[in-house]
Amino acid sequence: MSSHADVRHQALDEYTRAESAALTIRMQISKASGLAAPTVAVVLGSGLGTFADSLADPVVIPYGEIPNFPRSTATGHAGRFVIGKLSSAKTTSESGGETVVAALQGRIHPYEGYSSREAGFPVRVLGRLGIPALVLTNAAGGIHPDYRPGDLVLISDHINLQGTNPLNGPNDDRFGPRFPDMSEAYSLRYRQLAQDSARELGIPLREGVYAAVPGPSYETPAEIRYLRSIGADMVGMSTVPETIVARHMGIGILGISCVANSAAGMHQGKITHEEVLATSERAAASLGALLRTVLPRLAEQKD
Ligand code: HPA
Repeated sequence: MSSHADVRHQALDEYTRAESAALTIRMQISKASGLAAPTVAVVLGSGLGTFADSLADPVVIPYGEIPNFPRSTATGHAGRFVIGKLSSAKTTSESGGETVVAALQGRIHPYEGYSSREAGFPVRVLGRLGIPALVLTNAAGGIHPDYRPGDLVLISDHINLQGTNPLNGPNDDRFGPRFPDMSEAYSLRYRQLAQDSARELGIPLREGVYAAVPGPSYETPAEIRYLRSIGADMVGMSTVPETIVARHMGIGILGISCVANSAAGMHQGKITHEEVLATSERAAASLGALLRTVLPRLAEQKD
């Protein structure tokens, strides 16, 4: 006999939905002979999707073909799951083998009408695929006065101003604890690996605090002054639901923002989505180089 609460819980069973999505993906991977299970994943933000096209022997699964997967509706987001081999010539000395990467070409944002929980669902699926390390990339507005459009910035911490949390509602202990710790949401070790990689490649890489707002309107200059006063270095409309879900499941996070524009009021002129996409598409080359170097190192991390 099941209680009322159990029935409600079953109706909301995100775990089973994530498990069934992961099963479909696993079956597609195993159909592609010679492709091992992915050991690291990356979510590609606005205008940053081209990295997925560089993966070798790819298995491409449109989100629409994965059971329970939300559809990505934002322009600049293809909405495909791409699993493939990193075709980089050099990884680290220890890694003789190839790294198999799961790349999410396009993400789900609360501003599309999805809940924070739904925005985190793709990360639930990555967790059920057994992936221990995840890179979250995004396009962001630069608030720190030294940031220039095109700069890459490691996320050292975040401020959640979206007004929601993906863990709202009943907790499923199979995913993780009710009150997950967030004191080092963005792994210090991963940041060190990324800084080492960037140094070797000659790519300047800053670190800053990412403020997540609901969007979809850009901020007012007064809002940007406020965000600066509370310690934000960049602002965007994504990433935080995914980070919270990942930490809930014990997945390690590396966050990388591409500064797509100076935040509102910092320079003359309007902010447009076209400008954001154009700048991040230009920065995608250095982001790709960084990812090719850092992903195998994350895959090798044992923590
Ligand atoms: N604000 C919020 N989100 C963004 C911005 C911005 O200026 N640029 C890219 N994503």
